[in-house]
Amino acid sequence: PEAITVQELAQRMAERGSDVIKALMRMGVMATITQSVDADTAELLVSEFGHRSRRVSESDVLIGMTGEEDAAETLVARPPVVTVMGHVDHGKTSLLDAIRKADVVSGEAGGITQHIGAYQVQLGSGQKITFIDTPGHAAFTEMRARGANVTDVVVLVVAANDGVMPQTVEAIAHAKAAGVPIIVAINKIDLPDANPQRVKTELLSHELVVEDMGGDVLAVEVSATKRTGLEKLEEAILLQAEVLDLRSNPARSAVGTVVEAKLDRGRGSVATVLVEKGTLKVGDIFVAGAEWGRVRALVNDRGQNVTEAGPAMPVEVVGLNGTPNAGDDLVVTEDEARAREIAEYRARKKREASSAIAARGSVEQMFSQI
Ligand code: GTP
Ligand code: MG
Repeated sequence: PEAITVQELAQRMAERGSDVIKALMRMGVMATITQSVDADTAELLVSEFGHRSRRVSESDVLIGMTGEEDAAETLVARPPVVTVMGHVDHGKTSLLDAIRKADVVSGEAGGITQHIGAYQVQLGSGQKITFIDTPGHAAFTEMRARGANVTDVVVLVVAANDGVMPQTVEAIAHAKAAGVPIIVAINKIDLPDANPQRVKTELLSHELVVEDMGGDVLAVEVSATKRTGLEKLEEAILLQAEVLDLRSNPARSAVGTVVEAKLDRGRGSVATVLVEKGTLKVGDIFVAGAEWGRVRALVNDRGQNVTEAGPAMPVEVVGLNGTPNAGDDLVVTEDEARAREIAEYRARKKREASSAIAARGSVEQMFSQI
């Protein structure tokens, strides 16, 4: 069934009609602005443009894209979501640990009780920052790409003794593709062979011009081990966040993203979810990628049970019927039937896609044997 016209799609995404037609052509679909495309094509196209879509049922699609915005008066200031990226071993996790140790709240709670890839710190001023850690290893390109998509600001960690390296360049590309501002953290300045100036010069050739070289990219020199420069880095993040004027509606059903997910022996499937808008509550029924569930428990980044999680808050969700993938969306639905319907639909799509790939593989094999 034809679901939506090209025009309507373009409007809901706030993209130019000609760009949408071009994107469709790249997907092998020829359509004019007044023609309709089916739900599958629309869903693919929306993700192509970096927007989010939500499947309502098999034929009837696409609520919850950028078109379905919350009214201005419902929006409340929320903490920035910061993804830390950079080359392997440049000190991303160390830097986050250092920031976290200085955090007033976890300090009070008696330090770090668990380590998940996302957490929130509260500064002395009462302001909060949500951080997402990413691995620097080359195998995790996909995860960095997703990280850049859920984030407001990227902190690019570059070791002052090592300089710009392949995953540094890749992280810059992801941040730029996602249109996310970059703050550079030049780390390991305690090392005798540290050369922050060289880092800044190297960044120039990737179109990142830091402030003291006449550009507008904030760069902060830090040492995770010596815990220097951390406050300056936090200030830079808050400054950037202020410019972005981040707001979302906490008083609606929750929409979020799965940051990581695993099968836990005692608790079943557990997902670390970053709530983007709305408030996720114990008892909520939701779909997460091709899985669904009912929130049995919510655990914050300090291992404490909480009853709800609002915008920009990372939280562990217990109560899934299966393990979703990192990068999947989490959307609260009105009832279980709807959650099951969407999850089953997506699971079937996934199976179809993988059998299509398998079929293609066997055809290629056939030809290669001729
Ligand atoms: P991946 O997650 O594997 O990409 O690495 P990472 O970027 O998270 O680096 P990690 O924090 O694991 O640190 C790598 C090494 O650098 C560790 O041995 C740290 O102790 C060391 N390191 C991190 N920050 C500093 C620093 O400021 N100074 C010095 N001297 N060493 C540091
Ligand atoms: Mg790390």
